[in-house]
Amino acid sequence: MNSVANKYRSIFGDAVLALAPMAGYSTAPFRRICYDEGADFAYTEMVSADGLIRGGEKTFEYMRMMEGERFTGVQLFGSDPAVMAEAARIAAQNGAAFIDMNFGCPVKKVIRRNGGASLMRDLDLMGRIAAAVVETVEIPVTAKIRSGWTAKDENYVEAGLVLEGAGVDAVVIHPRYRTQGFSGRSNWEHIARLREALTIEVIGNGDVTDVEDFIELRRVTGCRIVMIGRGALGRPWLFRRIKDSLAIEAGVDVGPEVVVEGGIGETVSIADFMLRHFELTVSWDGERRAVSEMRKQFKWYLRGVPGAKEYRLKLMSAADADMVRSILRSLKEELVKRWRKLA
Ligand SMILES: Cc1cc2nc3c(=O)[nH]c(=O)nc-3n(C[C@H](O)[C@H](O)[C@H](O)COP(=O)(O)O)c2cc1C
Repeated sequence: MNSVANKYRSIFGDAVLALAPMAGYSTAPFRRICYDEGADFAYTEMVSADGLIRGGEKTFEYMRMMEGERFTGVQLFGSDPAVMAEAARIAAQNGAAFIDMNFGCPVKKVIRRNGGASLMRDLDLMGRIAAAVVETVEIPVTAKIRSGWTAKDENYVEAGLVLEGAGVDAVVIHPRYRTQGFSGRSNWEHIARLREALTIEVIGNGDVTDVEDFIELRRVTGCRIVMIGRGALGRPWLFRRIKDSLAIEAGVDVGPEVVVEGGIGETVSIADFMLRHFELTVSWDGERRAVSEMRKQFKWYLRGVPGAKEYRLKLMSAADADMVRSILRSLKEELVKRWRKLA
């Protein structure tokens, strides 16, 4: 193992689970809940390097960390090496545990500015950005890539080698092409091949939604660390489930399983998680913003919960925080009632 890999390991310790960067979702309150449930490290939503340099208040807002966050990296996007390096310096000064560079984002707004997955088409520039950032900050630097722009010009191994050469400490791959967006299945074979090609840590990502997926991704790829995105939305306890299953495998007693996956017990605890997530967001953003910010998160919690439509509609139009609290209280009562009937 080379010295870069050693540095990475000593900083990330025995981490196995990361919460993915998700614009609009991986906010400080959600990260905090995921940490409480067992995530080892997490990422901010993507932050514009240009915005940071200009000193935009809203951009700085994305970097704010909440008490109790374990190890949160700031994810930057941009296409100018000097701007990315300066933004990384600012992020490091403002409490980033590490810097992640976004070379995988497929959305037009980012691509138009030659950021995100656009850099998969210009590995020379990607390498110069990475080298400039690595040279500027003392904290670890990681990068997140896709499999390539299209299947025809698949180049994730070349990209990984460029990043390793630039001194990056770890690479995350979401193994889909830019042109795929989120369609199809992510190709875990790409993660395995990248891992074989690099000496630095490769973090696997893509379509992990339960304990079995986590085990299978690690089996197929040999990765130690798995990053979870959509699987944790509305289901932050997935981290705990995975940690419990690892503990059980290691012969540790984790106590009785309180929540049965997919069962009515799970739906009862959903109401508690929703309320906790809401109150954390109130404490973070104030009541008014929390009421509107939480709508999209509530939708994920209520996905697949039988009979929840009426509550979802009410939450989408709730006018103030007390109304949200009262809807969540009745949701909980209703779920408990149903659970008692079934028990
Ligand atoms: C709503 C949403 C927002 C996302 N925002 C970002 C982002 O800001 N930066 C990034 O690198 N990836 C972003 N992603 C991609 C995820 O980090 C992750 O790579 C992808 O969702 C695949 O993992 P999953 O199958 O576990 O969700 C986003 C994904 C979703 C669903």
